Amino acid sequence: MKNWSFDTIVNREQSGCRKWDGRKNVFGTDDVLPMWIADMDFQSPPAVIEALKKCAAHGVYGYPLQSDAYYSAIMNWMEQRYGCPVEREWILDTPGVVPAINLAIQAFTRPCDKIVIQPPVYPPFYSSIVKNRRQVVENPLVVEDGRYVMDFRDLEKKMQLGIKMIILASPHNPVGRIWTKEELQTLANLCLRYNVLILSDEIHGDFVFKGHRYIPMRSMSPEIARSTITCIAPSKSFNIAGLKTAATIISNRKLRELFRDALEAVHISDGNIFGIAALEAAYRHGGDWLDALQTYLEENSNFLAQFIKNNIPDIRMIKPEGTYLAWLDCRALGLSQTELRDFFVQKARVGLNDGLAFGKQGEGFMRLNFGCPRETLCDGLERIANAVKSRR
Ligand SMILES: Cc1ncc(COP(=O)(O)O)c(C=O)c1O
Repeated sequence: MKNWSFDTIVNREQSGCRKWDGRKNVFGTDDVLPMWIADMDFQSPPAVIEALKKCAAHGVYGYPLQSDAYYSAIMNWMEQRYGCPVEREWILDTPGVVPAINLAIQAFTRPCDKIVIQPPVYPPFYSSIVKNRRQVVENPLVVEDGRYVMDFRDLEKKMQLGIKMIILASPHNPVGRIWTKEELQTLANLCLRYNVLILSDEIHGDFVFKGHRYIPMRSMSPEIARSTITCIAPSKSFNIAGLKTAATIISNRKLRELFRDALEAVHISDGNIFGIAALEAAYRHGGDWLDALQTYLEENSNFLAQFIKNNIPDIRMIKPEGTYLAWLDCRALGLSQTELRDFFVQKARVGLNDGLAFGKQGEGFMRLNFGCPRETLCDGLERIANAVKSRR
């Protein structure tokens, strides 16, 4: 395997990226090390950069076409990496996973219908439901032995009230759980029993640490696949979120046609010429790069956990099983949420995500993105450790 250099620091300032150039808007100052929004500070794999250069050099950027090779790249990725066969006609093209979630809500539910989410969870899950005038029903995760798990008893009670859909984050952002086969089976059994559609957001599925396995929900059984809408994308895995290209997989023909109607109504399945080129290159040639990246990220996660344990005892890290996001329990600092936010920005000078944005269960928490070179991670951690020490 090639020795990729994830230690290289790429200057992203003035590159038009939200993570770095949007700091003033988000934190009120440019003087923070940004460790927030979920993109990484690494360059994409060389095969992706080459494909994009080729596309740019052509010089004509008219309406694109998703070719057979494009779809077979997605199908091979899912089958060869995850043992999850996907047929060509099951794939629908959307400019992102969040747009797909919104379209699914519009296609499969009606105003005021109840949709379950499992907070603390990715904030657009809430806003997509609320902005479409459906009702959010919370089935909060619970902590058992320091690990977040689903509360199936609460979920069943809520399903008895008449739930139309559950939006599942698998793997889960921000708590970093990779759901086990047993957990997915129990969840799916409840959904089948109570006739609840499963919208499975698997955008983080390519990031899984040793000892864990990402299992696409739809691969659990044909019966589960019939009730599942799967969202995948190369955007997190290959750091191409700015190219707005994702795939929604629906094998149930009736559901697929409803989704297609919603998609065609807003005319957004054309794709974008760069996103199409990047997805195909990433899924076709990016596997080794991604394997190496996962190893690097797992080392980052271990380093982060050790550093916090040794140097910042007032913060507890919920160790992720995958992703590049760490959920930090900062409650022992004894600060209100406003004070906590101010502390990280003004004292530590790091830009993290506010835990409260993930639901009220995130009060006292912050989310840290460790998808960056180790040197950057060290810098951020030292800033936090020094700020905590200077409070004592
Ligand atoms: C769980 C989850 N879903 C979706 C997204 C964003 O998807 P997209 O940019 O494709 O809309 C993110 C980004 O952080 C995420 O964490």
